[in-house]
Amino acid sequence: MQETKSAQQKLTVRLATEQEIPQMIRLIVEANKEYASLMPDGAFEAYKISIEQTIRDEEEVERYVAIDDGQIAGAVILFHPYTLNLGDRIIINPFSEMRLLAVDPERRNSGVGALLIDECERIVQGRGEQAITLHTTDLMKTAKAMYERRGYRRYPDIDFNGLGGVEIVGFIKEFQR
Ligand SMILES: CC(C)(COP(=O)(O)OP(=O)(O)OC[C@H]1O[C@@H](n2cnc3c(N)ncnc32)[C@H](O)[C@@H]1OP(=O)(O)O)[C@@H](O)C(=O)NCCC(=O)NCCS
Repeated sequence: MQETKSAQQKLTVRLATEQEIPQMIRLIVEANKEYASLMPDGAFEAYKISIEQTIRDEEEVERYVAIDDGQIAGAVILFHPYTLNLGDRIIINPFSEMRLLAVDPERRNSGVGALLIDECERIVQGRGEQAITLHTTDLMKTAKAMYERRGYRRYPDIDFNGLGGVEIVGFIKEFQR
């Protein structure tokens, strides 16, 4: 993909290299630590393992990093449409999905998260897809408010119960035609 620069000309988003994957995992785990004490016992340890597996092992996903002054400041993963068998239910998501959006706690509130979302929306819309989706939880208040301000609405078709019974709720943004 082409690198996109912010107004300050120093923040860029690009695909992560193989060598950057361990750092990407560390950043996403670190960014989510604020939720550890709010989760049921043991859920954060399990979440850490699932973050690592998703980033390392999932095929056909795109891993993006935001680079600020040469350092990884944030990350996100873009999944293609998928079918997920939960045992008692099958989730079919016909839209691409952003996952694990995270910004280094030291670099918050300076537009890194917004730029990563802008890029995912631009990429997906550029492929001619009608909408983009994501999951979040009630714990993620800053993220949820940000998505709602950006025109995302609830998409219960892809809701499920995550580790420790945490409700993982779907959101969708349909692109204007
Ligand atoms: C959610 C997260 C990615 C936002 O990243 P960020 O780089 O700080 O966000 P930005 O600077 O681009 O700000 C985006 C918007 O959120 C607002 N915002 C950012 N931090 C905020 C805070 N602590 N409190 C209130 N609003 C905040 C900004 O003002 C901005 O508002 P706008 O949409 O009106 O312009 C970051 O807080 C994070 O990594 N959180 C932990 C992981 C997480 O919850 N991920 C979401 C997964 S669904």
